[in-house]
Amino acid sequence: MSLIEKHAVFEKNSIVLLVGILIAVAIGGLVEIVPLFYLKSTIEKVEGIRPYTPLELAGRNIYIREGCYLCHSQMIRPMRDEIERYGHYSLAAESMYDHPFQWGSKRTGPDLARVGNKYSDKWHVEHLTDPRSVVPDSVMPGYPFLAKNELDTRHIADVMKTNRIVGVPYTDDEIENAVADIQAQVNPDDKNVEAFQKRYTVVTSKGDKLSTPVARDFDGNPAKVTELDAVIAYLQVLGTMVDFSHFDDKANMR
Ligand code: HEC
Repeated sequence: MSLIEKHAVFEKNSIVLLVGILIAVAIGGLVEIVPLFYLKSTIEKVEGIRPYTPLELAGRNIYIREGCYLCHSQMIRPMRDEIERYGHYSLAAESMYDHPFQWGSKRTGPDLARVGNKYSDKWHVEHLTDPRSVVPDSVMPGYPFLAKNELDTRHIADVMKTNRIVGVPYTDDEIENAVADIQAQVNPDDKNVEAFQKRYTVVTSKGDKLSTPVARDFDGNPAKVTELDAVIAYLQVLGTMVDFSHFDDKANMR
């Protein structure tokens, strides 16, 4: 019996074909899934990654509320054109504290995974208030109300608790001080700045201090804490937590 004739057994009998498919799919599935059970974690630990500060987290919630993800992705893929435009490709660890993640699926605007420190706070104030004042051809809508809306901090501790349930390691101390830490992050003269920065600084095994948040007035209006303060604090931290001088781009680039 030739191979073709043997195969005819499958083709002429749907039950045999079905069993054959099940066996083939099961083998494929096992090869892909079983190794995952033997890994401690599918996310490689990277030094410098810390949970968002309460102000950054509040900004992230506004980013989601306003649907920024409908036009912006936050995932740089490991391909040359992306790396040359946006910087080092995104690492899994960089979104390990993002619930839900903001990788996105649409790029009407540029990827924002590494937009932190790319522009000044003032640029963001102008751009978010009226995008065409700084980028004349922009199709991004303006969000002038962010500068007027006072930031609602009533639920931030609950948001942090919820994040903790899904694995973000916020401490009781951080949750208790959430509102004080928001006040401290927008005011470099606040008496709690040092305590706030200590809470959100990553100390490595070698004793290096990484990812210390900077306390400053983000929206240019020190009189109140606005939604704009929160969104800019969030944008300015994106992609800045990992020191990429240790990584070899070329080795992993496709
Ligand atoms: C309708 C689609 C759209 C929406 C919604 C949108 N953007 Fe944009 N965004 C763009 C486009 C297009 C650009 C590029 C032109 C420009 O810089 O304005 C851009 C640029 C940007 C940039 C500059 C990126 C860079 O690297 O130059 C930032 C930051 C940004 N958007 C933030 C936001 C935030 C925050 C929100 C939500 C509050 C938002 N965008 C909502 C379309 C959008």
